[in-house]
Amino acid sequence: MKKYNVGMIGYGWAAAAHIAAINATKQGQVRAVYSSRPQDAALLTQKHSGNSAPAIQVYQDLDQMLADPSLDVVDITSYPSEHRDQAVAAANAKKHIILEKPMANSATEVADIVAAASANGVMGCVCFECRFSSQFQSIKAVVDEGLLGQLHYGEIDYYHGIGPWYGQFRWNTFKKEGGSALLTAGCHALDALLMLMGTEVESVSSMSTRSQSDIFAPYEYDTSSVTILRFKNGAIGKTAAIVDCLQPYYFHTHLVGSQGSILDNKFHSQKLKTDKGHWSELAMKMLDSGDVSDHPYQSQFQAFFDALDAGVEMPLTSFSEAAKTFAIIFAADASAANAGQCVTATSFQKVT
Ligand SMILES: NC(=O)c1ccc[n+]([C@@H]2O[C@H](COP(=O)([O-])OP(=O)(O)OC[C@H]3O[C@@H](n4cnc5c(N)ncnc54)[C@H](O)[C@@H]3O)[C@@H](O)[C@H]2O)c1
Repeated sequence: MKKYNVGMIGYGWAAAAHIAAINATKQGQVRAVYSSRPQDAALLTQKHSGNSAPAIQVYQDLDQMLADPSLDVVDITSYPSEHRDQAVAAANAKKHIILEKPMANSATEVADIVAAASANGVMGCVCFECRFSSQFQSIKAVVDEGLLGQLHYGEIDYYHGIGPWYGQFRWNTFKKEGGSALLTAGCHALDALLMLMGTEVESVSSMSTRSQSDIFAPYEYDTSSVTILRFKNGAIGKTAAIVDCLQPYYFHTHLVGSQGSILDNKFHSQKLKTDKGHWSELAMKMLDSGDVSDHPYQSQFQAFFDALDAGVEMPLTSFSEAAKTFAIIFAADASAANAGQCVTATSFQKVT
């Protein structure tokens, strides 16, 4: 028997990748699925657990699943507009929570989730799983080793055309669900930038626009944005969030420091005394696809369950850490709605 029984909220694309990742951890096992659509328990058990594992129970009533005392963790993979209410209900039912991005659609909703988890003594894991990717773990190690010296500029950008060919398009086009280019997709890039710059944000400003292509016309919000950050240590940074591009998926990373630079998987460090006229190469798995089956959920969920064992907040993607990223995203979107006016930390820090 594994130690943590997990109940899924939602049974869509992300959920399928989560279930495989949870079941592959040392301590986690999916034992229940809540879905608005009727599901066949025997089929789900066969598909996700094999015959030897305990059966998966299905629910169409969330309160009933949350009342199941055998469940330790709830994993929320529903539509973004449902995240706040479901996360607060899960916390009040004393379940630890895995929560897909976005945490929620406003600073107030995120604050409600953080407060409910804290009041009920439950831990959270937000699916900023890119922090656990080979690419960003390796880059972070290079930065932490001091090979780039003191960073003074960073840009991490997200280029991923989310058009009708992409399953989420059917709900992502709505303001109520997608929110903004930064909230729905660019959040991964901004979050990675914050992790790698490793210092607090002082101010943010953002501007947005949209493609003239008919393909992206259904979107109720601007689908391209660029966000500029000033950090408290004087460094500056930038994140472009482009969901209306027609090109291959590209997670662009460029960090510049006093001893060298990293551009995607290429780097130069004065400390290594290599030739500045040529890039050296880092062997690492790149984030080059939006496919959830390719995302490092297993490493992230393993870290979450290990943290539950230790009774501490998980590293890198706890509720409190992720809430800092969302505070900056909401500030950036407020700036974009106000012609790029600068928003300072004093006005967005109250979220965290
Ligand atoms: N971290 C990441 O990289 C990543 C990647 C993909 C999705 N997500 C997030 O995961 C969440 C879910 O996204 P998804 O891609 O799994 O969306 P999805 O459309 O596949 O599923 C979303 C919800 O809709 C329900 N659903 C799906 N099809 C349905 C139908 N025909 N009728 C009724 N309900 C249906 C699912 O049960 C689920 O609750 C979102 O918050 C999204 O932002 C995150």
